[in-house]
Amino acid sequence: MERLQKLIAESGYCSRRKAEELIKQGKVSVNGKIITELGTKASFGDEILVEGNLIDYEEKEYYLFYKPRGVVCTTKDDKGRKTVLDYFDDVDKRLFPVGRLDYDTTGILLLTNDGEFANYIMHPKNKIDKYYVAKVKGIVTPDEVKKLKSGVKLDNKKVYPSRIKVKDINKKNMTSIVHITVHDGINHEVKRLMESINHDVIKLKRECISFLDLSGLKSGEKRMLSKKEVKQLYNLSQNK
Ligand code: URA
Repeated sequence: MERLQKLIAESGYCSRRKAEELIKQGKVSVNGKIITELGTKASFGDEILVEGNLIDYEEKEYYLFYKPRGVVCTTKDDKGRKTVLDYFDDVDKRLFPVGRLDYDTTGILLLTNDGEFANYIMHPKNKIDKYYVAKVKGIVTPDEVKKLKSGVKLDNKKVYPSRIKVKDINKKNMTSIVHITVHDGINHEVKRLMESINHDVIKLKRECISFLDLSGLKSGEKRMLSKKEVKQLYNLSQNK
């Protein structure tokens, strides 16, 4: 239970001060009853109407999800494919994925109902690192790595991976394992970077978003982020 004016402000309807005025003016009702007392407490489980508008607020929640292969990163799919939200049937919040992983990409994905947070994580100016492991066709040479390090133009923007390292090469199968960290949030960024040096990605997994990783989770499993983790993520941009 919280003070009504706080709940109204938290819903994004108006400022707390304005909410106090509206309460005093008799423009707020809780479960059908007009409230004019400023100290009145309520919760978002109550039906709160402000000037006839239903206050529609959700507590903010943040999840870390281990996305399996063959799942789309949208809230709905017109082709009827499985979406990441199918794994959140037990959550009563209107969650959406923070950015995208391709249908065939696996790994760490954040979901939330906090639009501000999602923008923060995705915005290139905050340089939140996303670390991927890619299995690619062919043997990646030191010259090709150098080329990527010197930047590649994607969507009219020069993109520089924060880090890139060839971890393994398999001469028999003619494949390489590449560890690559990016922060630009460009569509299909890793696949396009690798294609720019003529290596198609066969398999892609996002292992980390900054300090967050998949420890303790199996494919298809999720956990909530702690308040501390959310705060730590916000602190990252200040440390850049
Ligand atoms: N880059 C890609 O190419 N695909 C993804 O799913 C994520 C990053």
